[in-house]
Parts: sequence; structure tokens; C-alpha cells
Amino acid sequence: MRNVAIVGVSQTKFGEHWDKSLRDLIVEAGNAAINDSGVERKSIQSLFIGSMSSGRYAGQEHLGALAADSLRLTPIPATRFEGACASGSLAFRNAYIDVASGQHDCAIVLGVEKMTDVKGPEAITSLAAAGDQEWEAAIGLTFAGLYALMARKHMHDFGTTREQMAMVSVNNHKNGVANKYAQFQMPITVQDVLKSSLVADPLRLLDCSPLTDGAAAIVLMSEEKAKRIANPVWILGSGQGSDTLALHDRASFTEMPATVVAAKEALKGADVKISDMSLLEVHDCFSINELIALEDLGFCRKGEGGKFVESGKIAIGGEIPVNTTGGLKAGGHPVGATGVRQIIDIVRQLRGDSCNQLKNPEYGMNLNVGGSGATAVINIFGKEMK
Ligand SMILES: CC(C)(COP(=O)(O)OP(=O)(O)OC[C@H]1O[C@@H](n2cnc3c(N)ncnc32)[C@H](O)[C@@H]1OP(=O)(O)O)[C@@H](O)C(=O)NCCC(=O)NCCS
Repeated sequence: MRNVAIVGVSQTKFGEHWDKSLRDLIVEAGNAAINDSGVERKSIQSLFIGSMSSGRYAGQEHLGALAADSLRLTPIPATRFEGACASGSLAFRNAYIDVASGQHDCAIVLGVEKMTDVKGPEAITSLAAAGDQEWEAAIGLTFAGLYALMARKHMHDFGTTREQMAMVSVNNHKNGVANKYAQFQMPITVQDVLKSSLVADPLRLLDCSPLTDGAAAIVLMSEEKAKRIANPVWILGSGQGSDTLALHDRASFTEMPATVVAAKEALKGADVKISDMSLLEVHDCFSINELIALEDLGFCRKGEGGKFVESGKIAIGGEIPVNTTGGLKAGGHPVGATGVRQIIDIVRQLRGDSCNQLKNPEYGMNLNVGGSGATAVINIFGKEMK
């Protein structure tokens, strides 16, 4: 496998874009990433796009061709990837393999979702299709409901408190304030979370990621071609895992084996340790998921995620800064774009141009989860090539 660099990144603002179409979002993010890379359009040889449910949300399928056409990249191969909320990272991982394998020298990855053109209940029903339609969605179990079951079990088994979960959202909102692309740029308190309206007990409005429109794009290049590009960021490893589609089929409600498998593969490929990470982007679709991610990745023991968050270790300046630009909670969660956006925020940290710049970060990792943990994708990035 060849070394691969990220040479250009861009995202649209995340939020409600009633005045822009799905195509507009793709074009805006794609063109800006190409400009950011300085690469000529004719150098791009393949296109990968992640989207979970563009047919249900925007009435548009066949996004590979739509993106290649709209970005004036035809006739290159253009393919769509779907893995629920992990669709963006799945597209990215396949683009990485494409360039690392030597098949192509330069690829573009896009992630997109336009979720707010349909009414809220319709959007939530579409999201529920990423669970088990027969055994979960058909009986009315939404994703908030599934993660609420995990939260209750975590509270029951380990004594995790409502306040500890709220602190996840507080940290993400604090980090989102400086992020001009974020859906919500306002700080919140633990009391705000605890007083917000109940969505699925024990999860409240401010424990949940929102419904969002947005797109994000990345340009990748082989080492040989990237040598001429200033300030590349290197992809050091990538891993992917899967699990039962339905939550009730799992041995445990409080861990995600797909994450553990993906982390092992990515760390092995990158030849680094989890303790080498300078920052993390994790999938905080609901506050409980960030606690579970920190445990599954090995930053603390199983059951101790709540205490870990409470100790302040995930804050900027803490032991392992998490979601330094607001995560899904404050940044927004246009599901197909989220994984790509996570990677962009790590790239900006490693390039030194983040809105909340850390001091000399060396390595970053993103964890993008699909459904209630049935798909997990992890990628590891470095400032220097290994
Ligand atoms: C939490 C949720 C149910 C709220 O939906 P809703 O009650 O229909 O909310 P509305 O769109 O009517 O918005 C009402 C207000 O709350 C705000 N709001 C909505 N979701 C919010 C969130 N997650 N965080 C903070 N504020 C939020 C809106 O901006 C709006 O504010 P305003 O009155 O000042 O304009 C919805 O966002 C949701 O289902 N989120 C989870 C999405 C999901 O499952 N993703 C996949 C994860 S696996």
C-alpha cells in the first residue's frame, strides 16, 4: 500500500439550507475542496460520495453521477457509499484504499445530506430505517429510543449520572462557539441540558444531535503526487467493523464491538498507540455515545466514561481533547456528511488552522458510527508521514 495524503478540504455551513438544493451543497463543498488543494480538476481520477438517505430526504438517488456531473468531473468513476451515519467515513475509507492500492493517484471524497426539506417526523422515520426495520422501526423505536436504552443500561450498571451525560453536550457546545460552520454556536450549561424537553427518557433535547443540511469534501493524493503540495496531512491507518443490525441481538447494550474491531485495525495499520492521539473526533449523535466511545477506544475502563468526562479530560487543554469544533451535537449532523466533516476538523488541527487550534497536535483519530453501532469506521491521521 502507498502513502496517501489529504491535500484539500472544505465544508458548507451545517444547518438549515432552505435556499440551497442537494446539488448546490455538493458543488459548494466540492469546488471549495478542489480550490483548497490547488489541484487541477483534470488530475482527479475517481469520486466517492457518502449519503445515507438522499432518496427519502431529497428525492434524489444516483449521487455518484450527480456529483461527477455537477463538479465537471465526468467521465471518472463515481460511486456512492451508504452505511447509515457512517456513510461519509465509508466513502473516505474506500477512496483511501483506491489511492493507496495504486488504482488512482488522486480522488475526491464527498459527504452530503439534506434532511430538513421533509417534516421532522418524516426525517426521524427515515433515520429509523438505519435500524432493523422489522424488529425496531416497525414498532416505533427511533434512534433516540435506541440510545436511550443504552443510556439507561449504562446508568443502571455503572452508576453513570444524568449530569455526566449532560457534560458531554456542554463540552461540545463550548467547542462549537468559535466554529463558523457549526449549526449551534451557543454555549450551554448542565442545567440547560437537564431542563430541556424530554425526547426519549433519559435523553433530552440537548443530549441529541440535530437534523441538519450540509456537505463536506476532501481531496486525496498519492505520496508521489502530493510532494508538490504544501502542508499535506497523512492518512496513517483505517479500520472498519460491523455488528448485529438490531440492538437487542447484542451481548451488551453498553459497548460497541464494531468500534473495538475498527480501532484495532486502524491502530495496527498506523503503527501507533491509542495513547499517541493528540485529539479525537467521536460520534456524539447522543451524549451517551461519546461515553461509550471513550470506553471502547480504551481511554478509560468500561463503565468509567462518565467519570472521565466529569474530570475535564476531554476539554481543549485536557488529556485528550474531544470534538474540538463542536462534534455532531453543536456542529450539526447531516448524516452522510458527518464522517467527512470529522476528518476535515482533524486535518485543520494538524495543518494548524483550526478555529480552536491545539498546541502542536501530532496524531488525530475519527470514529464514525452507523446506526446503533452496526457499522463503525475509524481513521488515523498524522502531521508527518510514517
Ligand atoms: C431532538 C429532535 C427530536 C428535535 O426535533 P424537534 O423537536 O422536531 O425540534 P424542532 O426542529 O421543532 O426545533 C425546535 C427548536 O429546538 C431546536 N433544536 C432542535 N434540535 C436541537 C438539538 N438537537 N439541539 C439543540 N437545539 C435543537 C431548534 O433549533 C428549534 O429552536 P427554535 O425554536 O429556537 O427555532 C431531533 O433533532 C432529532 O430527532 N434528533 C436526532 C437525530 C438523529 O437521530 N440522528 C441520527 C443519530 S444515530
